[in-house]
Amino acid sequence: MFENVAIAPPDPILGLTETFKADPNPDKINLSVGVYKDATGKTPVLETVKEAEKRILAQEDSKGYLPMTGEPVYCARLQELLFGEGHEIITSKRAATAQCPGGTGALRVVGDYLHTLHPDASLWLSDPTWANHNTIFDAAGVECKKYSYRDPKTNGLDFGAMYESIKKIPKGDAILLHGCCHNPTGIDPTPEQWALIGDLLAKQGVLPLVDFAYQGLANGIEDDRAGLLELVKKVQQLLICSSFSKNFGLYRERIGALTVVGDNKEQADTVMSQVKLRIRYNYSNPPSHGGQIVATVLSDPQLKAQWIEEVADIRNRINEMRHLFVKTLKDKGVTQDFSSIIEQRGMFSFSGLNKDQVNRLREEYSIYIVGSGRINVAGMTKDNMDRLCDAIKAVL
Ligand code: LMR
Repeated sequence: MFENVAIAPPDPILGLTETFKADPNPDKINLSVGVYKDATGKTPVLETVKEAEKRILAQEDSKGYLPMTGEPVYCARLQELLFGEGHEIITSKRAATAQCPGGTGALRVVGDYLHTLHPDASLWLSDPTWANHNTIFDAAGVECKKYSYRDPKTNGLDFGAMYESIKKIPKGDAILLHGCCHNPTGIDPTPEQWALIGDLLAKQGVLPLVDFAYQGLANGIEDDRAGLLELVKKVQQLLICSSFSKNFGLYRERIGALTVVGDNKEQADTVMSQVKLRIRYNYSNPPSHGGQIVATVLSDPQLKAQWIEEVADIRNRINEMRHLFVKTLKDKGVTQDFSSIIEQRGMFSFSGLNKDQVNRLREEYSIYIVGSGRINVAGMTKDNMDRLCDAIKAVL
């Protein structure tokens, strides 16, 4: 049965990391996968994570299965992070959360939920979006459609076009919105624009699915939920997929969540009962370690405060690199305007480099960028900036 199997195409993001690892050039630069690097080019384990792991190792007394929806303390802390402690959604218990293996695991469960309970619903994705969104929902059998997002002329948000295309989404469909730090563009709507989107979705009866994988990397843990909070003022029902890969640096621990917000507790719990079925046949119940780390840090006020500082360090270094990148290109005499990158937030920006230029950067300079021209600003350092900008100048 294996004779006629063709080799699958490489993944557009993780496949590049495999090629990068095999590249013998000691000066190679990886700006493809969304993984944070510190000033020395390493992906660090946060101090708060190390402290939490020490405590877990000392206290853990069982490796029994977690419930299908994971550790309740983790789920409670996650809701506080999403909405803020004491938010009405929390006090009225109209949110139900399941701990999931990464944001990807949560998205897949949503895909299975939509496909089986709402087989006629299409899911609308921003154009562009994270390459894996299409793949996950295609695999689940959910039809994906596109709504307008980026203005190629300004490399900013084309809110008018976004609004007009959302207006055309029929009742009963779902729309995926990026909570903050839009992947791949780094362009986010303002809170005022989120409110307008929320009004529109409520009026049209379209279900929002918020992919919230970068809380804290745009402007701060609390500031970054501003869009979500505007949205929940307008819509009663929504789904939220969370990830702690980036803001806790827990990439390989696969820790995320799916939160269902309903009109009331009974409705949220009913939907969650259906979600649980999909969890059971996908992976049965989530891995524990990442959730224990997050719950330990967020349950200890001192550790939580230290973590918020660590996230600020990550955010500030990325923003510093945004400025340095634009300045270095300018100093080297590049006339193309890259200044919009300074305004963007999170790990990613669209560089505007085309496929040929991206290929030349990889083949001639061992610089790895996703084919769409998306760059991971968090992979830039003061040490690799000159080499990177020289190479970009050469291929432009
Ligand atoms: C990315 O977009 O690079 C990250 O979210 C990692 C991934 O899984 O693709």
